[in-house]
Amino acid sequence: MKLKNYISTMQCLKLISLITILCIGPSIHAAEIDIFKGMKLYAENCAGCHMGNLAGHEEWNKSLDEDGHRRAPPLNGTGHTWHHSPKYLFQVTKYGFKKIVPDYEGKMLGNETLSDDDVWSIIEFIKSTWPEKLLKKYNSHFKS
Ligand code: HEC
Repeated sequence: MKLKNYISTMQCLKLISLITILCIGPSIHAAEIDIFKGMKLYAENCAGCHMGNLAGHEEWNKSLDEDGHRRAPPLNGTGHTWHHSPKYLFQVTKYGFKKIVPDYEGKMLGNETLSDDDVWSIIEFIKSTWPEKLLKKYNSHFKS
């Protein structure tokens, strides 16, 4: 093969692989963030405190629980969850508050056994329960 042909073949291959990465790469990741999986994981790991309908404990901002700890707040957009960045929600869901507040003694202890994709899937599920207007505001405020 002539050198010129070789170079243009190589450039062509590079271009093809670049296009493939651009097309397939992001969709592979998106496939791992799965709202339905998030819903299932939420039911298993979060609903016990934040309730099946994500409304939190009905007394969440009125009283402490029997051990004197704060009760689980709503995650459905009626509380202040939507004021926090995706990164913050990820950190709190995965590691609880102990990373942010070193002497934290409350009940949000995190879920370190879940994979990062599992945590992002739960967050996508939580966001999917927010009113559309709020979600739009959130996404435009925290766009990456
Ligand atoms: C044992 C009870 C319990 C479980 C289980 C639990 N949480 Fe929490 N969560 C809390 C409490 C209590 C708070 C409030 C923390 C505080 O003020 O001490 C909280 C706070 C949060 C916050 C911050 C909300 C905000 O508006 O600032 C998020 C996000 C959150 N939890 C997500 C989750 C997710 C997602 C799961 C499941 C993967 C989960 N939690 C499981 C009790 C729990």
